[in-house]
Formats: sequence, structure tokens, C-alpha cells
Amino acid sequence: MKTLLSKEQLHDGVVDMARQIEEAYEGRQLTVVGVLTGSVVLMADLIRLIHQPMRVGVIQTSSYRGATTTRGDLISNSELMLDISGRDVLLVDDIFDTGVTLSQVVEKLADFKPRSVGSAVLLRKEGRQEVTYKPDFVAFEIPDEFVVGYGLDYEDMYRNLPYLAALEGEDLAKHQPAAAQQVI
Ligand code: IMP
Ligand code: MG
Repeated sequence: MKTLLSKEQLHDGVVDMARQIEEAYEGRQLTVVGVLTGSVVLMADLIRLIHQPMRVGVIQTSSYRGATTTRGDLISNSELMLDISGRDVLLVDDIFDTGVTLSQVVEKLADFKPRSVGSAVLLRKEGRQEVTYKPDFVAFEIPDEFVVGYGLDYEDMYRNLPYLAALEGEDLAKHQPAAAQQVI
């Protein structure tokens, strides 16, 4: 595993993004909505760096890309989401990869008649986008590598790493279930 962004670099990038968000939404009350689960670490840091009144909520989504469903089909649980009608919403997500997930969540939120929907992501992977939608705030551009840490996972592991790391071949084998490891 190799470190791509240190804890300090991540902090500086998030501070910077928070300042841009403050400027863009000056004098307006934000409703910040984190996309679970990858955004939890960024959310915790970002909302404490935006010094203005805000409401905070989450939305849960899952993108099914199995053989039986169309790639990019998105299931989202918005029933538990706070009321966003007439609000200035800022969606927060971990990474903009193909962009399919975030663009679909933005579309879905339009059903609830918000006043506006903006988006902020920690990372954008270079050269991967498959949609015309663009996030409004991006803390870091990263090369096309599989990254973990600071909320991002590989099979739900590594989210708690305080830095961002790129996984290498041997890391991918390491976290197989115990039974699979014994066979190898
Ligand atoms: P999309 O391709 O932009 O729709 O990305 C969908 C989701 O894939 C993101 O919200 C992440 O949860 C996950 N993802 C994409 N690239 C990575 C990565 O490098 N590491 C961990 N998760 C990733
Ligand atoms: Mg994920």
C-alpha cells in the first residue's frame, strides 16, 4: 500500500474546500447531506470547518453493478433523509469516479424540490468520468488508482485510515475471508 495523501495534506485540502463553500454560500443556510458510507470521515471534518449555520443529514445509496442489473442502477434510501424542499442542499461524497452515482443522487434529490443542489467531493479520479455532470467543489484530483482511507473502503475495510493510500496487488489478496486465505 502506498500513501497518496498524508493526514496533513488531506486536512489542508479540506480546509481549502470549506473556504470555497463558505464563499459560495455566504449568507445562505446550507443543508449538508452526506452520501453514506464513504463520506462519513469527510463530513465530520468538513462541517466543522464551515463556519455558518447549517442543517446536516445523510442519504444512503447503493449502486448495483452485478450481472443481473444494468450497470449504474442506483438504489437510494431517502425516506430517512431530512426535508430538503426549498433548501440549498450541498451533497458530500468521497470520490467522483465514473460520476454515475453522484449524478444520479443529484437527479433523485430534484424530486424533493430543493432550491438548489450543489456537490462537494474529496477526490476526483482523472480520466474516468462517464457523465457530463461535474461536482461543484473538489478537494483533490488523483490518478486512476484504487484508493482507500479517510472514509474510502475496499470491501468495507480501511475506512478508518487517517491518510489516503493506493492499494497494490498484494493488498487485494490480504483481506479475503479466512477460509479463502487458507486455500491460497
Ligand atoms: P462512481 O463511479 O463515481 O459512481 O463511484 C461510485 C462509488 O465507487 C464511490 O462513491 C465509491 O464508493 C466507489 N469508488 C470508486 N473509486 C473508488 C476507489 O478508488 N476506492 C474506493 N471506492 C471507490
Ligand atoms: Mg464505497
